[in-house]
Amino acid sequence: MKRLRLLSPAKLNLLLKVNFKRPDGYHDLTTLFERIDLCDELFFERTKDGRITIDCQHPHVPRGPGNLVYKAAALLQDKFGICQGVRINLKKNIPVAAGLGGGSGNAAATLLGLNQLWKLGLSKAQLMTLGRTMGSDVPFFIAQSSWAVGTQRGDQIQSLSLKTKLWHVLVVPRLKVHTKDVFGAFLASKKSTTGARTKMLTKPKVNVNILIHVLRKNDVPRIGTLLSNDLETAIVKLHPQLSKLKEKIEKLDIGGVCFSGSGPSVFCVVRSQKQARAVAQSLRRMYARVFVVRTY
Ligand code: C5P
Repeated sequence: MKRLRLLSPAKLNLLLKVNFKRPDGYHDLTTLFERIDLCDELFFERTKDGRITIDCQHPHVPRGPGNLVYKAAALLQDKFGICQGVRINLKKNIPVAAGLGGGSGNAAATLLGLNQLWKLGLSKAQLMTLGRTMGSDVPFFIAQSSWAVGTQRGDQIQSLSLKTKLWHVLVVPRLKVHTKDVFGAFLASKKSTTGARTKMLTKPKVNVNILIHVLRKNDVPRIGTLLSNDLETAIVKLHPQLSKLKEKIEKLDIGGVCFSGSGPSVFCVVRSQKQARAVAQSLRRMYARVFVVRTY
């Protein structure tokens, strides 16, 4: 095989609980990932010159070593002494730095793709070990499952065998939000409210198992009521205009509305494609980037 095409999907976090800050600076969390059908596309072509070349038309995506796709390829070359090269064409459809895991998904797709193209024979567990050094969300995309629970840094993945497919409307404001800044603001707000540096950061327990149970029953109205993201206050603190966006969607009276990951993307759960299209149409009058997406 000389060429390969892979889709690189995005994700939503239906639930994100931040438990405590770990000694390594990361936060221990519990999250419920959903893979959605908003996808980037990657085309791989094996070359003999050992070089990694990235083609990408997106103005905010670097083509050199700063790109996670480049990093993933270079990591495999270094680790396994690979002399082959690769030309990768990355077609971006997922908004960048939007809490949708686009870059992490691209890194995962590159690990999965080059494992085939360079015939490395690595297991998913081995690819996950490499992937988590590039980002906490990368192992979820290596799992290639529609639904999963992420624990620890969000990088320990338990795939769920759920048949449920949900429809969503997703609004992505033109703001770049950096995960590190959001966790920084989260920590600062906890310190100012508790006054204790080392205190546990948990809210009253929201049990991810309840959400999984309700997902299994495909109880859309209840799913909406169980969406939650502990980073919301920090996201809104950094970008106060985002609370208006969430309020506007809430006013449409369609059940739960939630930020995905570290934001700024906001999504809701709707009953059907028809309802999703109607909601999207009304939101497009106010926002440029509105997507109808489904579990993938
Ligand atoms: O792992 P990732 O590259 O996505 O993380 C970006 C930043 O987000 C980290 O450097 C860290 O500041 C913060 N983070 C965290 N706890 C996590 C995941 C990310 O504090 N579980």
